[in-house]
Amino acid sequence: MDPKIAQLRSLKEQARLGGGQDRIDAQHAKGKLTARERLDVLLDADSFRELDMLARHRSTKFGLEGNRPLGDGVVTGVGTIHDRTVCVFSQDFTTYGGSLGEVHAEKICKLMDYAMKIGAPVIGLNDSGGARIQEGVVSLGGYADIFLRNTLASGVIPQISVILGPCAGGAVYSPALTDFVFMAKGSSYMFVTGPEVVKTVTHEEVTFEELGGADTHASRSGVAHFALDNEVETLLAVRKLLTYVPLNNREKPPIKPTNDSPTRSCERLRTIIPANPNMPYDIKEVIRDVVDEADFFEVHADYATNIVVGFATLDGTPVGIVANQPASLAGVLDINSSVKGARFVRFCDAFGIPLVIFEDVPGFLPGTEQEWRGIIRHGAKLLYAFCEATVPKLTVITRKAYGGAYDVMSSKHIRGDYNVAWPTAEIAVMGAKGAVEILYRKDIQKSGNPAERMLELQNQYNEEFANPYEAAERGYVDDVIEPQETRTELIKALRSLRTKVDTNPWKKHGNIPL
Ligand code: HXC
Repeated sequence: MDPKIAQLRSLKEQARLGGGQDRIDAQHAKGKLTARERLDVLLDADSFRELDMLARHRSTKFGLEGNRPLGDGVVTGVGTIHDRTVCVFSQDFTTYGGSLGEVHAEKICKLMDYAMKIGAPVIGLNDSGGARIQEGVVSLGGYADIFLRNTLASGVIPQISVILGPCAGGAVYSPALTDFVFMAKGSSYMFVTGPEVVKTVTHEEVTFEELGGADTHASRSGVAHFALDNEVETLLAVRKLLTYVPLNNREKPPIKPTNDSPTRSCERLRTIIPANPNMPYDIKEVIRDVVDEADFFEVHADYATNIVVGFATLDGTPVGIVANQPASLAGVLDINSSVKGARFVRFCDAFGIPLVIFEDVPGFLPGTEQEWRGIIRHGAKLLYAFCEATVPKLTVITRKAYGGAYDVMSSKHIRGDYNVAWPTAEIAVMGAKGAVEILYRKDIQKSGNPAERMLELQNQYNEEFANPYEAAERGYVDDVIEPQETRTELIKALRSLRTKVDTNPWKKHGNIPL
């Protein structure tokens, strides 16, 4: 063999081994895949084209000059998922613990710049001890270079972070700046400071898992949008997410051909609303009955469960679903659900994904806990997000649409394109009991039988307001439809909205109430 070719092959072979077989074995012993094995699961077979495989660090401190592994602890390159181009980096824990030094950061930045030029998503597989300690401030600078790119790329190309190992210190802020964070249960964690520092500062005893494991972030903090059982499932979920999103903000979302008829009647919906308006039902049943092939890809499934968000297709077109969930806290809007909903709405709007809203909301959650933590400010985020969104917005009021929450949930007044109600809809300032107590307090007190009088007044109020017809009279809803027609009507509306053009006034950027 030509010695030059032999040299090249030997270098690449060396690069593929990362930190060496012993460290690869140690990675496997922890139940983790290597950086390259992960790319094999994530990407279409044989689609990966690696960049900077032969890059090495230039540091000479703390004996680093004697160990200059090829690739510098991160595999970067371009591949495809379902035949669509994506840019990926995968940190290699077998090399300096996947820690981020100057060259490691340069490789990631170069990839991000490339992704911005070609308009392709960036997927980062994170498994790293954080800033490379030996390289000092240069590593911190490297992180900041990435944070800047994350921010500039936000809303231009989708950015996805997959946490498959440690992610600590300031390193957590790159994933936090991206659109979706995936975590694998049992092997990934994220925190600003680890359990030891927590113990020193606050005297709390907490495990890695409790402090920053996948379940913690998927259900308590909301930092993670997805927590999957293992690495393979996590990477496959990323592939699934990609089927709903465009590659960049100038491209239309990908059409997914379906055999589900656009005129299919949603039979389950005829009887889904319980006779008693205070009884719950599962809004996910409604969603599944309406969308193509009952396929709903839920985002943030375990966090703020009183609102449901996720992706589906209608007539093959990807849509973002936002739905109040009567089966959790009666579907009330609180701080966490408002923030969860707002972030999802903004993602969809940034990437041209139409929004479909299912509304059954008794209002905002009362109480000192919510007020003192700022429900006003946080609730305003959801309002702001729906107001500024210019993608097609379709709303179905299934039951309650009370108070400010009626306005917030993509009402006609804030540029809803197609707003309909089921005959079971109750659209009013507040529920009957509260309203009657305020309006008729003296009347009730004076009456011989307050309980009976109260009931009588509530019935009167319900007759007047607990229906969709006043809103229909005024055009606040475009139509009152029978529940089983929901899929057909939404699809017709969505088709007509394909050519929708709407813009916001010129501005540098708005000032969402953060
Ligand atoms: C250099 C590092 C490293 C780091 C790990 N290694 N972290 N090298 N810089 N930050 C090296 C180890 O020396 C070791 O090398 C190899 O990676 C594997 O590490 P182990 O400790 O043996 O692995 P494990 O027991 O699994 O523990 C993993 C770990 C631990 C929990 C991540 O290594 C750790 O605590 N590392 C330091 C984490 C940290 O504090 N980083 C800085 C965070 S602050 P050898 O050669 O012995 O195998 C930060 C600021 C970012 O990141 C700021 C952005 C604004």
